[in-house]
Amino acid sequence: MPGSVTGATDLEELRALATQAAQRAYAPYSKLNVGAALRSAGGTVYLGCNVENAAYPIGGCAERAAIAAAVHAEGADFHLEAIAVAAFDATGRLLAISPCGACRQALVEFGAQARVSFHQPDGSWSDVLADDLLPWRFVLPPR
Ligand code: THU
Repeated sequence: MPGSVTGATDLEELRALATQAAQRAYAPYSKLNVGAALRSAGGTVYLGCNVENAAYPIGGCAERAAIAAAVHAEGADFHLEAIAVAAFDATGRLLAISPCGACRQALVEFGAQARVSFHQPDGSWSDVLADDLLPWRFVLPPR
């Protein structure tokens, strides 16, 4: 299935796959190549990369590309268990980023208890709960 890899089960593998996915990025404008690898509750891994456009605002982030692949494969049952994100400049140098606000909102939609793994400036990985990345997020009021 396009965009998915079955069998990768731990965070180390997600980190390695996110690093690989960044090599697929289409980022000629920002020159920030971002990759994401997530694992669903069912154990399947889905990959995403950022895809930019000459019309800048329509570009998309790696995390939400991976989420789209997961939802396409698993539908409304998709539950996010863990995700790793990695970013590099055009020369392949590691750059520390954490998910943007829009991606944080997308992550909690599918797994507030998901582990979110990303690089610190010193190159180490840190793991944070999606829940903790976005306090006071938008919740659709009950009607
Ligand atoms: N980007 C991501 O892919 N994920 C994020 O969480 C933040 C930003 C991408 C979008 C754009 O292609 C580039 O990084 C610069 O903002």
